[in-house]
Amino acid sequence: MKILAVDTSCDDSCVAMMDSSQWQLNADVVLSHVNQMSSFGGVVPEIASREHLKGLPMALDEALTKACCSLTDIDWFAVTQGPGLVGSLLVGVSYVKALAFALQKPFSILNHVEAHLFSPLLATLEGKEAPQFPWIALVASGGHTELFVVRDLLTYEWLGGTVDDAAGEAFDKVGKLLGLGYPAGPAIDRWVKSMACEQHHNRFAFPRAKMDGYDFSFSGLKTAVMLQTKKLGTASEDDKLAIATCAQDAIVDALCENVWKAQEELGIKQSVVCGGVACNERLRAKLPGAFFPAARHCTDNAAMIALLAGLYERCGRLQSAPWNSTAKPSLSYFQKEK
Ligand code: KG4
Ligand code: ZN
Repeated sequence: MKILAVDTSCDDSCVAMMDSSQWQLNADVVLSHVNQMSSFGGVVPEIASREHLKGLPMALDEALTKACCSLTDIDWFAVTQGPGLVGSLLVGVSYVKALAFALQKPFSILNHVEAHLFSPLLATLEGKEAPQFPWIALVASGGHTELFVVRDLLTYEWLGGTVDDAAGEAFDKVGKLLGLGYPAGPAIDRWVKSMACEQHHNRFAFPRAKMDGYDFSFSGLKTAVMLQTKKLGTASEDDKLAIATCAQDAIVDALCENVWKAQEELGIKQSVVCGGVACNERLRAKLPGAFFPAARHCTDNAAMIALLAGLYERCGRLQSAPWNSTAKPSLSYFQKEK
C-alpha cells in the first residue's frame, strides 16, 4: 500500500511517501521555516501556519517526484492530528482531508509524539538494524520533553514529562540570553564542543531540579542563567562560553538522570532518544548505549508518520478517520486503548 504522510505540527512542512508492502521509504521531504523564524528569535505560530500554506504544496510536489509517482497512485493518506501548534496542524489536516476527498481515498489522523516513539524503527525501512523492544524512550524537542516505556509495537506507557519548559526550549532560552540566535540548541552544542575546556565545565553550578517520579523542570535553569548574566554585567565571550557549557551540562544531566532511573527501576537495558535535542553531542556521549535515530529523523519529519501508519496497518489497526476530524493541539500521548 502506498501511504502519503504529512506532518505540520510545528514549523517544518513535512511530506513522506512509504510503500508498506515493500516496507520502503520512497520520499522524505522536510521544508524548514527556520530561516523565517530566526529573525523573530523563535517560532511565531501565525507565521508558521502561513508558511505551511506555501510549503506544503512544494513539499508534496517534491515527494511525488522523488517517489516517481502521482497523487492517483496513493492508497492511503496519514496526517499528524496533534499535539502541536493549532494553526500549523489545521493546515496539514485540512490539506490531507482535501486530497483524500478529491481522490476518494481514506486518511488517518495520527499522534506526533507516538510517531517519535517508534521513529527508531525507521531504520528498518532502510534495511538497517533497529533496537529491540522494550525500550525507554526520551522525546526531547523544542515542544516536548517526555519519558516513556515502549513495551512492544504500539504498546507504551508514559512515565513523566516536563512540568514547564521543554529541553529544546531551555537550550533556546539560554541561547537567547547569550545572544546566540534561534534555534540556539545546535549553536550551543557546536560552540561548547569546539571551544570549551574543563574549566568552563566547572565554572557555574546551575540547578538540576529534583522532581517526583520521572518529571523534568527547566524553568529554574533559565532563571539561574538570567541572574548569572546580570551578575556578570557585560559578559566576555569566555564568560558566555562557560555559561553555555554549564547550562548544557545541567540540561543533559537532567535528561540522563531520568533515563538511567527508568532503566534501573523498570529493568530495561535499551534506551532510545528522539526529538531535536537528540542531535546533541554531549547527550550522545553521556548515553553511549542508547539508540539515536538518524539526525534527520530525530527532528520533525513525516517519515515517522508514514511509518506509524504502516505499523498500524501491520497490526490490523489502521483506521480511516471521519471527514469531520480536526486538529487537536493538546492531543495526549498517554497509553491508548488497544
Ligand atoms: O524536534 P525539533 O526539530 O522541533 C520541535 O521542537 O518539534 O526540535 C527543535 C529543538 C530546538 O529547541 C533546538 O534548539 C533543539 O531541538 N536542538 C538541539 C540540537 N539540535 C536541535 N538542542 C541541543 N543540541 C542540539 N544539537
Ligand atoms: Zn516533534
